[in-house]
Amino acid sequence: MHPAGPGLAIESATAHVEVLVAGAAGEPLQQLAEEVGHGHTRRLAPLAMEALARAGVAPRALAWVAADLGPGSFTGVRVGLASAEAFALAAGARLAGASSLAALAHAARAKRALVVPLVPAGRRDLYAGFFRADARGAVCLVAAPRVGTVAEVLAATAGALAALGRGPGSPGLRFVGPGAAREQEALEAAWRGSTSPAFRFAGLSALDLAEAALSLRGPAGGLPAPHAAPRPLYVRSAQAEERVRHRASAAEEIVLRDFALADIPWAAETERRVFSDPWPESFFRGELAQAMAWTRVAERGGQRTGYLVAWLGAGTGHLGNLAVVPEARRRGVARALLEDLLARARALEAAQVTLEVRVSNFAAQALYRAFGFRLAGLRRGYYRDTGEDALIMEWTGSAAEATPRAAGPAGQTAGSH
Ligand SMILES: CC(C)(COP(=O)(O)OP(=O)(O)OC[C@H]1O[C@@H](n2cnc3c(N)ncnc32)[C@H](O)[C@@H]1OP(=O)(O)O)[C@@H](O)C(=O)NCCC(=O)NCCS
Repeated sequence: MHPAGPGLAIESATAHVEVLVAGAAGEPLQQLAEEVGHGHTRRLAPLAMEALARAGVAPRALAWVAADLGPGSFTGVRVGLASAEAFALAAGARLAGASSLAALAHAARAKRALVVPLVPAGRRDLYAGFFRADARGAVCLVAAPRVGTVAEVLAATAGALAALGRGPGSPGLRFVGPGAAREQEALEAAWRGSTSPAFRFAGLSALDLAEAALSLRGPAGGLPAPHAAPRPLYVRSAQAEERVRHRASAAEEIVLRDFALADIPWAAETERRVFSDPWPESFFRGELAQAMAWTRVAERGGQRTGYLVAWLGAGTGHLGNLAVVPEARRRGVARALLEDLLARARALEAAQVTLEVRVSNFAAQALYRAFGFRLAGLRRGYYRDTGEDALIMEWTGSAAEATPRAAGPAGQTAGSH
């Protein structure tokens, strides 16, 4: 921990709620835990106030406040983060956060292992995170979190293990957290010894949360960038929100066309808005001149909304760049661009299309998974700005492909290579 004074950590992502008050050097002064069921709204603030009173720390003296960003109980995460924001605002304290999965992974103290923290997501499902611990116990994110049944989580775990590489010296596997306690039998049946030693089976810990939230590991460790405003990580979006989004995206046509030289200044400007390591204009000019380039722009209502740069040929393909302007996201633009690319790859009988994606880029990984891309490898420390790994994902035309939802009347192609 790197405390600059007393702090408060609020762990409320499950029904087992914990609050911790720490002293100026990070030493635990008071820790209270309670099984609140669905009573987060009612119980959280009184528990925090009681812990502060018992520790003799005035709320306005707090230097930092940490909250669990989820995934977990929707209500628990929302109430926890809102309460933490209120305490931080009143005290002028630093607000920090960590996901429930990252807090578990960092606290597990595993070595040479794929660490898969599991948190219950309703009665049947689990939230799962994927982290690798090296020989010294340093923890790095491997892939975006998933939600699903235990069978789906086991399949995703097999994919993450494959991406890490099998063979001599390949990492062990450790399931940790309250979800691992619930599904211990099934996990052990699939991988004997994978839940041993049992870790945080009783519930999440406010101390783990504080340590993860105050560490400076950032995206490489699966944590928010230092000093980024903490935002909840839900993993699964609300059904009502999805219905509204899908209706809106079906309402207007997406037109795809060739990427022209005249699009380059706009694309380079979009790069600067969207990426921490943007492509300059010269990269686009170079790509457009390539014989194997497949470069497309998406328009909606006459406005440019996204672009894709790929290489296709010699039985193989590579997706080099894909971006959608922030105002046009979650309306099927990337889906239309990818459908168009993979149709072209099939037409050219490309056996595979590969790509690299930041391990912390959860949105892009979800998109690629929806099209049947699978984890194929890891390039360690590939991104210099954050030190995080690149995940290699691969589509093979023969892969059992999830059929992505059709984008309404969208996805028509105007002009082709
Ligand atoms: C990733 C990105 C291209 C997605 O573009 P988009 O037009 O918003 O994506 P779509 O609306 O076509 O989404 C298609 C599917 O992808 C997945 N997806 C897209 N964004 C997601 C998000 N933020 N969270 C979870 N899933 C997401 C969903 O499965 C979605 O289907 P649904 O809407 O039916 O749930 C866009 O967020 C972006 O430009 N990000 C910054 C640049 C970037 O990361 N590029 C990829 C580099 S490898």
